Amino acid sequence: MDLNEKNLAVRLAGKRIGNNIHFYSEVESTNDVLFRLACDGAPHGTVVIAECQTKGKGRLNREWQSPPGCNIYASIALRPPIEPVYAPQITLMAGVAVADLLSGYCNGGVTLKWPNDVQIGGKKVCGILAEMSASSGDSVDFVVVGIGINVNIKKNDFDESIRNTATSLVEEAGQNISRLDLAADLFAKFDDLYTRLLDSGFGSIKDVWLSYCDMVGKQARVIFNNGIESGKVLGIDDFGALVISDKNGKTKRVIAGDASVVKG
Ligand code: BTN
Repeated sequence: MDLNEKNLAVRLAGKRIGNNIHFYSEVESTNDVLFRLACDGAPHGTVVIAECQTKGKGRLNREWQSPPGCNIYASIALRPPIEPVYAPQITLMAGVAVADLLSGYCNGGVTLKWPNDVQIGGKKVCGILAEMSASSGDSVDFVVVGIGINVNIKKNDFDESIRNTATSLVEEAGQNISRLDLAADLFAKFDDLYTRLLDSGFGSIKDVWLSYCDMVGKQARVIFNNGIESGKVLGIDDFGALVISDKNGKTKRVIAGDASVVKG
């Protein structure tokens, strides 16, 4: 069955995530559309999904390639009862939800790269961009979690700049994937993990996140606005920071940037 408004509405009726769904054939960015809706009071679990994006946003002001008819571009509004400093837990939780989901579609090889890239065989298959509104340091108003999954896009249709570093489910699983099933399963998985996060805390989600992460124990380099940090990856902390041990054995936290494993 096709991914369209009617079919999705049937699959998501009564669910906490996606019961209130806005389906578009084209938007600039699902995150931007949902951010505006959330500012106007859209409830927890509201979803914006689009067939294509003309200004799909990636992390660090990058563009997210968003051609029509082949992938998933979705944003989910959450109203978590947490302090803003813990909001990165939501992003990491989203990574675990996608990693669990995609593990069901291909036989192994799904990993998480800090902070939130989902990879198969070391190539990026999904990106997550969370944007928060908080009017005070005490509580989050809402978080918009944007998820882009490369589903049925073929290798040759990726922009040349990412052709060798990106992949899609069809390339990895060898067959076309139902975007309707994938989207419905994504929202269900997301809801399970979100409920677990609120009920049981970040501990178990963090453990699963670390089990998917293949950077722990390796030397990594993190590039960010003001420079570069290098060191052995020790793990992540409860604020979503990457914890590394530098060449002098000093423990450091890195809160944002682009991480890659290096030799030596
Ligand atoms: C990244 O750089 O890894 C994050 C990419 C996030 C892309 C998704 S697609 C749906 C949502 N809308 C956007 O504009 N971006 C996110």
